[in-house]
Parts: sequence; C-alpha cells; structure tokens
Amino acid sequence: MIQDPKHIIYLDNASTTCIDPVVAEVMQATYREYYGNASSLHSVGTAAHEVLEQSREKLAGLLAAMPPEIIFTGSGTESNNLALKGVAFANAHRGRHIIVSAIEHDCILKAARWLERQGFSITYLPVDCEGIIDISALEKAITDKTILVSIMHANNEIGTIEPVEEVGNLCRERNVFFHSDACQTFGKIPVNVQAMNVDLLTVNAHKLHGPRGVGALYIRNGVAVEPLLHGGGQEKGIRSSTENIPGITGFVKAAEIACTDLEPETERISAFQEWIMIELKQRLDGVYFNGSLTNRLPHNINFCIEGMEGEGIRLQLLLDDAGICVSTGSACSSNDGGNPSHVLQAIGLDPFQARGGIRLSLGRFTARKEIDIFLHIITEKVKQLKPIF
Ligand SMILES: Cc1ncc(COP(=O)(O)O)c(C=O)c1O
Repeated sequence: MIQDPKHIIYLDNASTTCIDPVVAEVMQATYREYYGNASSLHSVGTAAHEVLEQSREKLAGLLAAMPPEIIFTGSGTESNNLALKGVAFANAHRGRHIIVSAIEHDCILKAARWLERQGFSITYLPVDCEGIIDISALEKAITDKTILVSIMHANNEIGTIEPVEEVGNLCRERNVFFHSDACQTFGKIPVNVQAMNVDLLTVNAHKLHGPRGVGALYIRNGVAVEPLLHGGGQEKGIRSSTENIPGITGFVKAAEIACTDLEPETERISAFQEWIMIELKQRLDGVYFNGSLTNRLPHNINFCIEGMEGEGIRLQLLLDDAGICVSTGSACSSNDGGNPSHVLQAIGLDPFQARGGIRLSLGRFTARKEIDIFLHIITEKVKQLKPIF
C-alpha cells in the first residue's frame, strides 16, 4: 500500500518527478480551452495549432534552437529511438557504423542492438572509472563508415557529465552526426544545442516536474531522419500522430520554470549533495561513491557500502518502510532490480558490487528537513542490516 504522500520523502527524482502544481494547472486549462486537433482547419483547431507553435518556439528558445528544429514526441525513449534508427536509415547510404557509449540508457543500447540485427555495426565505447568516455578512443573508433555518435549528456545512474562539447567538435571535424540524450540534464544544468555542438538532442518532461509521456527531439536543420511512425504527417512528417497539446504545454511550462531558476536551484541542490555525501561518509562505515566527484550532476548521489552491496535492495525496502524512496540500479529503465547495473559494471565494479548501488536523486521540492530525517533513518537501517553479516 502507498503511504500518505505527505509523509513520503521522495529521493528518486532521476526516475521521475512529481508534477509541479503550476504545470498541472496549465495542462488542465489547455485540456479545457484548447481541445482541438492542431491539424484541423476550423477555429478550434487553429487555436490549438497556435498554442502548439508557441510551445515549440518557447522550447526552442530554452535550448538555443530554431522552432522548426523541435519535434515533439511521446517520451525520451521515443526521441532516442527516433534519433538512432531515424538517422541510421536515412543515412545508411553514407555508412552503417554507429558509436554509442557503454553507459547509455537502455533505450539507446537496445535500439543499437536492434540496429545490429538490421545490418548496422555498433561500437560500444567504454568509460573510465568515473564514467567518462575517452575522446581519443572515440577519435580512433570513428571510421569513414561512421554516420552517428550518441553520447548522453549525463548518466542517469551515477550522474557523471560527459564532455559533450568536445565530442561535438570532433564529430563535426569528422563529418559525423552527434546525438546526445539530455533527459537527465535539461532543467538541471545548462543545455544549449549550439554550445554542445549537437546535431540531435533528446529531452523529456517528466524529469523536470512535467508530465510523463511527453518528449522532444531537436534535429538540426539539414539532418535527415527517417520517421518511425507513419500517418497523418504531423511534426513535419517526422512523427505522425495528433499532438498532445496539454502534455506539450505542461512540458514547456515545466521547462520554463526549471530553466528560469537554474542557478540558485543548482546552488541549493549542490549544497544538499555535499552535505549528504559528507554525512554518509561520517555515519556509515565503508561508504564509497560511484561516478565522478567533479563532473557530476548536482542532484545525484550514488553509493555502495563495502561488504554490504548484496543488501542494496533490502536497504531500499527498509527505507521504503520508513517512507523514504530511493532507487537501486537504474529504476527508470525497468523493474529488474536484481540485475547488476551495466553502468556500475562499466566503471569497474564487479557484478556483486554492481547490484548494491543506492541512488539518491534530489529535486526542486526536496527540503532540508527531509534530508535530516533521511540521514537519521538510513543510519538506523544500516545498523539493522549489519548484524546479518
Ligand atoms: C538518460 C535517460 N534517457 C531516457 C530515458 C527515458 O525517458 P522516458 O521515460 O521519457 O521514455 C530516461 C528515463 O527514464 C533517462 O534517464
């Protein structure tokens, strides 16, 4: 049974976030007032179309893109699939080689494996012990058959931020398209398609206190992408299906709020992150942190407790009993909590350790008092686990 939400301390904002009440209000108003199909030619349809195009303009502005370069989709997963498969099939005449990092979200890795079965060859670029890709290894991996490189802006499990500007520069020099998955960074750190030198960029709404089931793909003008969904020709024919106008207005409102408050919010959350890391180290024996300590998302903390990695899921359940939600592994990709994390293994943990990563992810509504309570409770719960060994 779900506990009273008022008493829950939610530290799993990298999986998804609660909707901002202001965003929910905007969506409700859109449902009421702009119910038309944006493709209909009558007044109700054209009103919906206007809202759609205003939303596109606003989102483009936040990303430093041009409005026609924004394609609204149904999720981050869909945007990532569209980027990989769409670029692959539209550019197969130039080559059939694609490079992705080994720590991408499953929706990139599984799309890449599917493309292998369609005759494309994929290089899975390793990362170092902090989770950072090696630019010179990438340089060596690019061949004259490479059409696309896809490296995430920051990792969803360990929060490591990748050197995307450098990747973008290299790709441009080598005439290869560059896609980046920014689902974990949009609204958390600056995301600017010009500064990042990306050709394609994935964002979604539910990681920044917007609705689930809404995403977007930035496609730089001139990049050919084969559609995955064929139908009525919406979104310039790249993503057919009647646009989800309430979802899109909610997404854009959530993004505007997150981007407006970005600097002070980053400062606030970074201070919480530092506090939690210091306290965990002091209170619990054998704590070690996963991911980069310097190139790191401010809201992410991923740690194991030496010798107790096998108890990660039990610790998660004990915390849940106490009303605290954290995650083990990459809970935003599946419920297979028992499988060792591919990300933790890629940074050098063995499968036993890679099962025991606990991820805390803070959000805009995380309060100081909640962290105090969390620190107190986790100290007690870990003591309960210890005697078992
Ligand atoms: C890095 C990353 N990419 C893609 C996704 C998938 O996004 P969605 O849940 O909108 O399909 C997620 C989270 O779920 C994510 O963290």
